[in-house]
Amino acid sequence: MLHFLPNGKQLVIRRPQVADAAACLKCFQQLAEETDFLLYTPQEAWAFDLKKEENFIQSYLKHPDHLFLVAEVEGEVVGSVSLNQGNFAKQHHRAMLGIGVLHSYWNMGIGRRLLTAAVRWAEAHPKIAIIHFEVLATNERAIQLYRNFNFVEHGRIPNGIRQPDGRLVDLVAMSKQIKPVH
Ligand SMILES: CC(C)(COP(=O)(O)OP(=O)(O)OC[C@H]1O[C@@H](n2cnc3c(N)ncnc32)[C@H](O)[C@@H]1OP(=O)(O)O)[C@@H](O)C(=O)NCCC(=O)NCCS
Repeated sequence: MLHFLPNGKQLVIRRPQVADAAACLKCFQQLAEETDFLLYTPQEAWAFDLKKEENFIQSYLKHPDHLFLVAEVEGEVVGSVSLNQGNFAKQHHRAMLGIGVLHSYWNMGIGRRLLTAAVRWAEAHPKIAIIHFEVLATNERAIQLYRNFNFVEHGRIPNGIRQPDGRLVDLVAMSKQIKPVH
């Protein structure tokens, strides 16, 4: 999918191939350095290497029920979105969302376009009817993006995240039913 950013640059949203592993790994590790709104610490991200990233991309290419898309600007991977169907049969009607965009590309509509692409894929999936995730209660920008897509907050896990500096942060559970659940 080809889009244009407010600065006129082209944005491509696509499935990464194994050959994109180095660019994906760079984005993943930069994201971990730039934001503490994601689950992993910078140390955990730096422990990921090229081989692991290749296997990670390959696992999505092989798995028709999981989705991994990257946002690419001028050959650089600047963000990604993932949807992972529940592992067990009782969870096959729902998928867990993950999304991230590099800080210098925030507020250009990339998050919105990644989320749109993920929701469209889920709408076309034969089983997935609910998209869900947990977001840090302090992550106002992400929560606003999700509200724009009519995701609904269902509750909190108090102190659900312990940041590396010891700060405890609540987690907010959010979801959206994208088609009837049979
Ligand atoms: C959340 C994130 C993916 C948004 O990406 P983005 O490319 O900046 O998103 P967009 O530009 O498409 O939209 C941003 C939306 O945030 C909202 N927003 C922008 N600035 C905001 C602010 N200061 N406070 C609250 N909401 C804000 C707006 O509603 C905007 O949408 P709109 O202008 O269309 O109404 C990005 O900030 C990010 O990667 N954050 C770090 C990782 C993260 O938090 N991931 C989610 C974990 S659950």
